[in-house]
Amino acid sequence: MQQPALHETPARHLRAARPARPVLYFAPKALAERAAAFRAGFPGEVTFAVKANPDPAVIENLARAGIAGFDVASPAEMALVRGIAPAARLHYHNPIRSDAEIAEGVRRGCASWSVDDPLQLEKLLAARVPGLILVRLKLPVKGARYDFGSKFGADPAAAAALLRRVARAGRKAGVTFHPGTQCPDPAAWTAYIRAAADAARAAGVPLAHLNVGGGFPSASAGPLAPIFDAIRDAVAAAFDAPPPPLSCEPGRAMVADCFALAARVKAVRADGAAFLDDGIYGHLSEAPLIGTPRFAVLSPEGEERSAPAIPRTVFGPTCDSLDRLPEPAALPADTREGDWMLFHGVGAYGQSNMTRFNGYGLADTVNVARLL
Ligand SMILES: Cc1ncc(COP(=O)(O)O)c(C=O)c1O
Repeated sequence: MQQPALHETPARHLRAARPARPVLYFAPKALAERAAAFRAGFPGEVTFAVKANPDPAVIENLARAGIAGFDVASPAEMALVRGIAPAARLHYHNPIRSDAEIAEGVRRGCASWSVDDPLQLEKLLAARVPGLILVRLKLPVKGARYDFGSKFGADPAAAAALLRRVARAGRKAGVTFHPGTQCPDPAAWTAYIRAAADAARAAGVPLAHLNVGGGFPSASAGPLAPIFDAIRDAVAAAFDAPPPPLSCEPGRAMVADCFALAARVKAVRADGAAFLDDGIYGHLSEAPLIGTPRFAVLSPEGEERSAPAIPRTVFGPTCDSLDRLPEPAALPADTREGDWMLFHGVGAYGQSNMTRFNGYGLADTVNVARLL
């Protein structure tokens, strides 16, 4: 059930509650709007990549917003989704699985399976997995903040061979790809769609499905509409009619901007460095990869500090010297101990990767009507 928003904004909550530890602010309305934007604009089935944020409140709110398919990477994610949305379609798109994991995917009735390797494909065929088998394609495509091609994916020639094997086994074959996370460039999708059509042609196998991945930019990193348009146009140009049905599996783009994190400035050292009560071992785990999220500094009363900014080193609370924001952050000169850094756009992967290193990492979640 979507809980009622208890507070209008994070600033109002901080003023009223004076919390003792970090707070994650969740805006269910922002999530519902994002799901609606995907469903209205994407020309196919919209699923959610659970790994980006497995918070049950996220799954519940997405199911309420009409998201009926979920990309799951493990039996634990299957159980999570089935516990909340029993009729949801599960897409098991982690291409490497043990036999026990395959058996669990079969038991859960997973509707599609990705694969990038001949031996892994034989395991799927031997287990008679239900549904579609999607060959995961990889290309040397640029534009994303973090390239996934170094771990998963078959190059076009290997993908064509896998498609042929799937078809020879009498199974419905498709292609899936992931252009890399936080990718604002529509050309990445265009290149993949052309390559998927070429691989299918080379294999002589008509595609029963095309999954165009996650990788879409978060709301603050770029618009979705040009990417949706490019996908529509590229599919129409690359395939003979009728083109294969499409699906997508955004993670970051769905949830990133539906959460904010308030971390307290627990000390300002004489050299100006600020120490927070959360950091890269907590909910800011992506900062070294993706960069420091945008932020504001709020007084304990929830007022935004506005003195001219000066660069400061910002450390997290643990004893590890890696626990710091990747570059000096421009904090208002009047930032003081007891203030809050309110980080926006932290809804993707931060909760998934959070650790309890040194006893930190916990945060309370508070629902808000809006994050700004
Ligand atoms: C198979 C698959 N689909 C979707 C996603 C979600 O990617 P993003 O968060 O960039 O949208 C991932 C991320 O790792 C993935 O591995």
